[in-house]
Amino acid sequence: MEIEKSALNNVLISETQIRDRIQELGKQISQDYKNQELVLVCVLRGATLFFADLVREISLPLTFEFLQTSSYNDSTEPSKNIEFIRAGDNYIKHKHVLIIEDIIDTGQTLKFLVDHLQSLNPRTIKICTLLDKPSRRQFSVSVDYIGFEIPNVFVIGYGLDYSQMYRNLPYIAVLEATSENTSQPSTNV
Ligand code: IMP
Ligand code: MG
Repeated sequence: MEIEKSALNNVLISETQIRDRIQELGKQISQDYKNQELVLVCVLRGATLFFADLVREISLPLTFEFLQTSSYNDSTEPSKNIEFIRAGDNYIKHKHVLIIEDIIDTGQTLKFLVDHLQSLNPRTIKICTLLDKPSRRQFSVSVDYIGFEIPNVFVIGYGLDYSQMYRNLPYIAVLEATSENTSQPSTNV
């Protein structure tokens, strides 16, 4: 497929780099939460592959929760609509919560999620993201675990999508803009 070839040429983070970093993160999290029980909240859908690999590197008693937000819809520009598919019950009350996210861009999604989860009275909330694009930040969030800091490029693969595609690439690649002189792809690429 065309995109597979061009994505291959634009590998930003390889499978090996991802695997090694996840092992480090897993060890760190296992140490930091030693003797504590964790609730891991996976932000659907982009964080699923990261989540699945990370949980196997954490040696602690823990439970899984999944939340879905939609901040990009089918484009590369964030919209203001973020909705929960699951909201408001006791699933994190008095518990240590670690949010697992694929990427922090403007910070809007995470800020919204943290504000919501905070209202459910967890004992603590921390954030673990595979990727961080600090240069795009508009909403202040404190991130506790970061896999990789990346520049202001649109990336796909390892869970991350462009119009719901390319999530299955085993590495992270930069999506090339197809129109001239654009650093980010337009919505009708
Ligand atoms: P934020 O709310 O602006 O921080 O955006 C966070 C969400 O936008 C992430 O969970 C991703 O789903 C999506 N996103 C941001 N940047 C990228 C990217 O480079 N590739 C794919 N998805 C992205
Ligand atoms: Mg996402």
